[in-house]
Amino acid sequence: MKIAVSGKGGTGKTFLAGTLAAKFAAGGHTVIAIDADPSPNLALTLGLSQEEAGKIVPIAENEDLIRLKTGTDYSGVFRLSFRVDDIIEKYTVPTPSGAHLMVMGTVRSMGSGCACPAHSVVRALLRHLIVERDEVVILDMDAGIEHLGRGTSEHVDEMLVVSDANRKSLEVAKTICRMATDSAIRQVGLVGNRIAGDLQEQAVRAFAEKNGIFVMGMIPFDQDVSDSGITGVPVDEGHSLAIREIARLTALLESGFQLKKG
Ligand SMILES: Nc1ncnc2c1ncn2[C@@H]1O[C@H](COP(=O)(O)OP(=O)(O)O)[C@@H](O)[C@H]1O
Ligand SMILES: [Mg+2]
Repeated sequence: MKIAVSGKGGTGKTFLAGTLAAKFAAGGHTVIAIDADPSPNLALTLGLSQEEAGKIVPIAENEDLIRLKTGTDYSGVFRLSFRVDDIIEKYTVPTPSGAHLMVMGTVRSMGSGCACPAHSVVRALLRHLIVERDEVVILDMDAGIEHLGRGTSEHVDEMLVVSDANRKSLEVAKTICRMATDSAIRQVGLVGNRIAGDLQEQAVRAFAEKNGIFVMGMIPFDQDVSDSGITGVPVDEGHSLAIREIARLTALLESGFQLKKG
């Protein structure tokens, strides 16, 4: 099961991706949560401390690893094919949520067809994780989907596009939904987040309907989740309506996947 989470910055992608990862892990799945956002902060949502998170060297910034994988004896020439399965064992970090975390890091000029060594390692790794492995993989991305080449994106089971009721977030979500549909991703669902009241919910639903976008879920505004982003104190799961909605989404994704597997 391979899930990608995208959307405008600040809409709650990391909250959704991290909580989904924790829920799948609690359900007995082996989960690899990938932080592919240029400003990574999934570690905290998965329960690591700031200090532990700070020790993680993102794959793209791990120069020794990149050189080991792509280096040749000739300067300026690098290898295009190399093993990446060993990277998973070595560079995923266990977290209190039960999910294993891998931080990809920023590749400069990503998406402009750049063929730098770090980019080719990140691409190969994502492809391996999404196409060749059978763990639950959850990808916390930014607002683009350039990380996913065509051969990779067609193996993404579900792309969740997060938006709050703000018109700018919805416009970005619309663009991402288009890109996802134009790539080979078949299932794309909008998830409303931080929804405070009927007006906001209706705004998201009306926008989705007008643009032919499927609404997968509607996560309410949750004061505890908001406070937790400030204080770092974990949310009391039992009382959180936001987390309850994400648990419902987890079950929905799981049953959809079981159906697909036949
Ligand atoms: N449903 C929600 N209710 C209240 N606050 C939320 C909710 N979802 C996310 N937040 C808060 O909004 C902020 C941005 O969320 P985050 O997941 O980091 O967004 P993104 O990854 O899209 O940039 C965080 O401080 C988070 O705690
Ligand atoms: Mg984020």
